Amino acid sequence: MDAYNIIQHLHSGFRYVVLVLLILAIIQSLIGWINKSPYTEGNRKINLFTLISVHTQLLIGIVLYIISPMVRFNSETMKNSTLRYFAVEHWVGMVIAIVLITIGHSKSKKIVLPEVKHKTIALYYLIALLIVVGTLAAGHIPILK
Ligand code: HEM
Ligand code: HEM
Repeated sequence: MDAYNIIQHLHSGFRYVVLVLLILAIIQSLIGWINKSPYTEGNRKINLFTLISVHTQLLIGIVLYIISPMVRFNSETMKNSTLRYFAVEHWVGMVIAIVLITIGHSKSKKIVLPEVKHKTIALYYLIALLIVVGTLAAGHIPILK
């Protein structure tokens, strides 16, 4: 296995870490929002780990973008849907989702009312999840494989 293979497998497998954390964060914040429950240390940690997981996926993704043979720029790039997906659509969609998670997390830290903290995480992370899932689907990448 060369460096490309290792990083490609890392990025591919890390999708599960991202998706599981994101879904956990959304569920706990929806419950917290609806029940008006306190914002616990456990809530804070899951929300932070979710942020860290997507930033890590971003970093691995950038390295992959530089070294992957799936990312090439020539006269075929925009005509071939798979090449175009990895050259443009994949990273644009994922970066939008990661920015939303980063903004949601940052806003939630500044808010004092627990209910509003939960609500902020729930909304930003949920929209981000839909964009991640939509972006994977657009590239015909299975969520579970
Ligand atoms: C939440 C964020 C992200 C998720 C969940 C994600 C997930 C994935 C998945 C599941 C694959 C398919 C791997 C396979 O074929 O088995 C993939 C491929 C790829 N991703 Fe991402 N990705 C994310 C963000 C990014 C970002 C931000 C970039 C670039 C800046 C990026 C660059 C790539 C590239 C270049 C490939 C093609 C790899 C190859 O087959 O050579 N990804 N990604
Ligand atoms: C290309 C790579 C990365 C970029 C562009 C990036 C960008 C950012 C930005 C803009 C913030 C500020 C959020 C705020 O103002 O609240 C932030 C926060 C943070 N990032 Fe990243 N990041 C990257 C990689 C990473 C990696 C690899 C990790 C960890 C493994 C990480 C962990 C964190 C943590 C822990 C925070 C602070 C969360 C807090 O507010 O408590 N980031 N990052």
